[in-house]
Amino acid sequence: MAAAAGNYKRILQLLEKWPIEEGKTGRDLGEFIRNKINRAYKENKFETDFKYWDSQFLSLQRLVNNEYRNKYPRVLVSSATGLTDQMIKKMYKHLIRKFCTATPHKPVMLKEVLHFLQPEAEQTVLDMTFGSGGHSRQILKEAPNVKIIALDRDPLAYGYAEKLAEEFPDQVVPLLGRFSEAPDLLRKHNVKQRSIDAILFDFGCSSMQFDTPSRGFSVSHNGPLDMRMDSNRFPEDPTAADVLAKASEEDLYKIIKTYGQEKKAKKIARAIVEARYLFKTLTTTEELADLVDSVFDEEIRVDKLQRPSHNATKTFQALRIFVNNELNEINYGLIIAHKYLKLGGRVVTLTFHSLEDVIVKRHLLGNLIADTANPLPLKYSSHSFDLDGNLVKDVMESNWLSLNKHVLVPKHEEVENNPRSRSAKLRAAVRIR
Ligand SMILES: C[S@@+](CC[C@H](N)C(=O)[O-])C[C@H]1O[C@@H](n2cnc3c(N)ncnc32)[C@H](O)[C@@H]1O
Repeated sequence: MAAAAGNYKRILQLLEKWPIEEGKTGRDLGEFIRNKINRAYKENKFETDFKYWDSQFLSLQRLVNNEYRNKYPRVLVSSATGLTDQMIKKMYKHLIRKFCTATPHKPVMLKEVLHFLQPEAEQTVLDMTFGSGGHSRQILKEAPNVKIIALDRDPLAYGYAEKLAEEFPDQVVPLLGRFSEAPDLLRKHNVKQRSIDAILFDFGCSSMQFDTPSRGFSVSHNGPLDMRMDSNRFPEDPTAADVLAKASEEDLYKIIKTYGQEKKAKKIARAIVEARYLFKTLTTTEELADLVDSVFDEEIRVDKLQRPSHNATKTFQALRIFVNNELNEINYGLIIAHKYLKLGGRVVTLTFHSLEDVIVKRHLLGNLIADTANPLPLKYSSHSFDLDGNLVKDVMESNWLSLNKHVLVPKHEEVENNPRSRSAKLRAAVRIR
């Protein structure tokens, strides 16, 4: 059912792009698309036949992306659904309600997260990365009358949080915003510093973000190169396509090298800049994936499970981190966690790559300078680095007591059932200062 809701949403997003052509009764492409969808839904095909769904979706996407522009010139009057933007948003909400009885994002290391968060009756838990609420829902089950503050920067996730708040009135407070917006949002809801019992961070993207082609996160679903987790909340913020079109070669190199840890960053940055001059700007995920692929010879990359992975995966990760300012957000999020937790309160983090994990590790081990994760190596191997006594004390005195000596990783069965959990690392700590 969840997949069906996702599919509905993707279809609506396609339709939004196609205008109604009132002067073309009977020849209106928008109408053609709508009829096609209606027929497929009547026959229940979208819910049962995923191959059919994919082939239909791609063919509709070609129509909607105006690949047949000469055949069907388009006039922008309204959307193909015949609905306004507001009406479409209302409809998404309705569809989420109707179809999402199950959560589409499988919560990672659920048992372990609950074990370390230890939510108890009447406590307040801040879920900083609500997603579709898999972890929050379990917390509500385990701790009677627990209060969940549910933050997410993605308006779609906020819709899920609102739905949960309807199911658990007085227990769930949905908040739409980034970690860096949390202090303002919490103030507005009269949540004081040092008042929260437990905080959860499940970093990265949700399955809904990855699996919705129009969000542009995925190397394997074609869609516009967007990648903004905030969707259109800040329309002036650059999309991935904007970065690719405007950043200098040197900046692109730094982004891809630093945030993607990509060995071929230089060649990829060069190819992106050359593409600007040679043919056109990159606007779709497929175009970027193909371009990056062209930089690799016959090489086939594999992921940690030894499955072939796309050559552009690291470039996509880099752009996503840059577009969403993810690493600064994580740093800021952990400072906020420290300020808002009670003494004795717990923080649990799930990270999915080493750039995220190293920031968490430095915070929890107290390896900070001026509230920022220390960029120097964890072990000071260089004797030329001059450490005065106060700095050493500042740097090494942690506000946290770690609850697990070594990071926890998901069990084999979980990775089998949910491959997205494969690179998860769990850390947990108690606020002691
Ligand atoms: C892996 S998903 C969380 C899934 C969730 N735990 C569940 O069980 O459904 C990560 C979520 O964090 C959100 N997110 C990432 N960075 C954020 C930030 N800086 N501020 C607020 N939300 C953020 C994303 O929008 C995404 O919905």
